Amino acid sequence: MKNVAVIPGDGIGPEVINATLEVLEKVSPKTFNFQSVSMGGNAIDKYGEPLPAESLKICQNADATLLGAVGGPKWDNQPPENRPEKGLLGVRKGLKVFANIRPAKIFAPLASACPLRKDIADKGIDFIIVRELTGGIYFGKHESFTTPEGERAARDVMEYSEHEIRRIAHVAFKMAMGRRKIVTSIDKANILTSSRLWRSVVEEVAKEYPEVKLNHLYVDNASMQLIRVPSEFDVIVTENTFGDILSDEASQIVGSIGMIPSASLGEDNRGLYEPIHGSAPDIAGQDKANPIGTILAGAMMLRYSFNMSTEADKIEHAVDEVLREGLRTGDIYTEGTKLITGSQMKEAVIAKL
Ligand code: IPM
Ligand code: MG
Repeated sequence: MKNVAVIPGDGIGPEVINATLEVLEKVSPKTFNFQSVSMGGNAIDKYGEPLPAESLKICQNADATLLGAVGGPKWDNQPPENRPEKGLLGVRKGLKVFANIRPAKIFAPLASACPLRKDIADKGIDFIIVRELTGGIYFGKHESFTTPEGERAARDVMEYSEHEIRRIAHVAFKMAMGRRKIVTSIDKANILTSSRLWRSVVEEVAKEYPEVKLNHLYVDNASMQLIRVPSEFDVIVTENTFGDILSDEASQIVGSIGMIPSASLGEDNRGLYEPIHGSAPDIAGQDKANPIGTILAGAMMLRYSFNMSTEADKIEHAVDEVLREGLRTGDIYTEGTKLITGSQMKEAVIAKL
């Protein structure tokens, strides 16, 4: 049995997770032992903290962790140290999953949901963002203080050490070797000292992959090039905050944030798998959420943690077929397609397996 820690989370999290567990059980019956774990706002309500020690321990002992989404307005007034998002960061750090892989690919049947001009989209969009996930501002020192003049002030530190950059660069170059062999490293080296270190370490690592072409882009320029010439990107490697922002941009380029899965990997095979969307409290409990991002995260889990690429392929093909038939949740609906609920989407995928 493969032990999977499951964090349904808040908002639409439980809906998209339940759909995914059914899909996994269907594609490979009696293979997984799912253990539900409390983390996020629901854990604050139940235990007074977003990531109880016991929850993290279950994830650390599992073969992989599958996560829905956490957070919501209900917990907006929690002190910074006790917000649901802190639980998420605690899981990422506690599992030491420093490499967050976010594929951005146009599903052919969804081409009409791409907001870019047709001649741009027609060149094909298929790139991967490799986002550093356990460093940078997210984990730097956060401070509020009062200036000598008595004004309120605050700072957040962006810090990277060499080994953190080196290991994420290796992930990106290795990934590029199995693809079109282009790595674009995105930084702000014209301003940030941490970016200058980033750039020089990435250049050192590049020497070990002579077949791969390395480009550097400043993050502001990158955000523009991603909508101007998305077909030119293959593997993007970037630090935590830039990766957070650019992956949301990428998700819209390919149609919807509801479609994109992610895998967060560390030194071993035990990854953390989640959709890149949030908890969408505005549509929670209404059966409107698109489960595809999480279902595809489940497929990534099969591929990366369990070496089950046949089953992963099956899930991805099933999703593709369902989209081809014109079935759409609200986030990807366009005229001429058929609007269905989240659970109908799940059923449709299962029916293809
Ligand atoms: C993401 C999310 C998280 C992040 C939030 C919910 C803390 O936006 O996974 O991209 O910023 O990493
Ligand atoms: Mg984000």
